[in-house]
Amino acid sequence: MGTFFRKLAGFIFFFSKKIKHFLWKRIYDRLANTYEYFDWAFMNYGFDYDNKSNEPPLSDEDEEYRYCIQLYHHTVEKLAVQDKTVLEVGSGRGGGTSYIARYLNPKKITGIDYSKNAITLCNRIHNEHNLEFVEGDASDLPMEDDSQDVVINVESSHCYPSIPQFLSEVKRVLKPGGLFAWTDVCPTEAVDDYEEAFNTCGMKTIDYYQITDNVLRALDADKINEVKNEIISKSTPFYLKGIIKDFSGLKDTAIYNTLRNGRTKYYFRILQNG
Ligand SMILES: C[S@@+](CC[C@H](N)C(=O)[O-])C[C@H]1O[C@@H](n2cnc3c(N)ncnc32)[C@H](O)[C@@H]1O
Repeated sequence: MGTFFRKLAGFIFFFSKKIKHFLWKRIYDRLANTYEYFDWAFMNYGFDYDNKSNEPPLSDEDEEYRYCIQLYHHTVEKLAVQDKTVLEVGSGRGGGTSYIARYLNPKKITGIDYSKNAITLCNRIHNEHNLEFVEGDASDLPMEDDSQDVVINVESSHCYPSIPQFLSEVKRVLKPGGLFAWTDVCPTEAVDDYEEAFNTCGMKTIDYYQITDNVLRALDADKINEVKNEIISKSTPFYLKGIIKDFSGLKDTAIYNTLRNGRTKYYFRILQNG
């Protein structure tokens, strides 16, 4: 029965856009209420630098989340966000938005997520002066035109029903010359669609490469995965357990295995608004 649910869920997540949008929202809302922030401040797979000398220094408190923080650090490190206005779309539990606010000194960073519960959680937990969280959808961003110097998007776009619509919203809210950094998993059968969307969105790709190996090394090394496994087993309703495990990146689960066997890859891309 568990396998049936997982196969059905896999079909729904990858192929039915509207259902995917609705179900992910329910799942992320549920996750925001189910797990304590400090058990699980991030919801990404992490990043391991090839060269350890590139790792950012972290406080003892943040050290626990090193790999997940490094996925953020790698995403923004070439964007010089100091004193800039930054928007994160799909900010989740706010760990990455808070890292940027505390360590990289943007003028202001806004985290947007369509999970109302995640936004409530973030507003309760984070109170840096240059940070805010707002409920909103990637396909209709609640931001003014030409208002942001930088937009980032970390492991969230695979949930969106339309990548072209999302990219047109990013372009709308970015100032001319503004930068957009995107990083996410992508199954090989979707690569051409993503490529077309990025190439026709009116922003110019200025950097683009795969980070699958860095992500896999992080998934293998991150001690937080043991905690994740325990939390999922303890606090997830039975009908969601399989699919949450598959997307958690835990060893020998679906997404982990497709990253290992090359059927899914993890990409990083920077675009500039023309
Ligand atoms: C895998 S989590 C990553 C969260 C965060 N970026 C991190 O790395 O910890 C994906 C996030 O994208 C959000 N999301 C999915 N679809 C969205 C949409 N259409 N609009 C805004 N947020 C969305 C989810 O609610 C979830 O918080």
